[in-house]
Amino acid sequence: MQNTFSDALVAWQRSHGRQGLPWQNTQDPYRVWLSEIMLQQTQVQTVLGYYQRFLNAFPTVQDLAAASVDEVMPYWSGLGYYSRARNLHRAAQMVVERFGGQFPQDPDLLIELPGIGRSTAHAIASFCFGLPHTIFDANVQRVMARYWAFDQDLAGTAAVRTLWSMAQTLVPPQGGLDTMPAYTQGLMDLGATVCTAKHPQCSACPVQRSCRALQSGLVDVLPRKTRK
Ligand code: ADE
Repeated sequence: MQNTFSDALVAWQRSHGRQGLPWQNTQDPYRVWLSEIMLQQTQVQTVLGYYQRFLNAFPTVQDLAAASVDEVMPYWSGLGYYSRARNLHRAAQMVVERFGGQFPQDPDLLIELPGIGRSTAHAIASFCFGLPHTIFDANVQRVMARYWAFDQDLAGTAAVRTLWSMAQTLVPPQGGLDTMPAYTQGLMDLGATVCTAKHPQCSACPVQRSCRALQSGLVDVLPRKTRK
């Protein structure tokens, strides 16, 4: 029972999830990090047009660190949320100065880099190093609130923390690069394509049989979130 969720999610990701996105072909933390920062506030379709151009200009973290911020900004122009680009540049310099150009694996070190919050740190750790840490962005909060029929208000940080630790119990405990990338991508894909905010497709969901919100008729009222 413990691994039903992850087994079903990983199998579903492999057959029904998104494949072939450029940042899925790599375990290079620089490339994964760049994609996650671009995707924080920008749709996949838009990011696709910027991602490869940015990497052509700055193929490694050393190249990005050695550039001036004025050289970097044109490659972000049009993506918006420009503090992301300034943080990216500063983080690249920190990776070079503090970590000799190697991204750390430990999420507690990754979150010290500007622009990397805990969910992004977990994405990098799981995609690149196979570490068993769960992402917990807004899509995953919705998936988990429904899966657990968790009805506390997610405007509250204590409720978010509680649900995040419940999400963590579903991760394959041994981790590994054979499962964690598909698991993490599966969480994102499930939230983006099946367990959507409006009109979720429960009949297409790989974990419908163990979804407590579906069992209790609460899918349409979860997650609960009041405006702060
Ligand atoms: N949003 C954030 N990370 C993503 C990823 N790896 N693939 C698709 N959408 C995402």
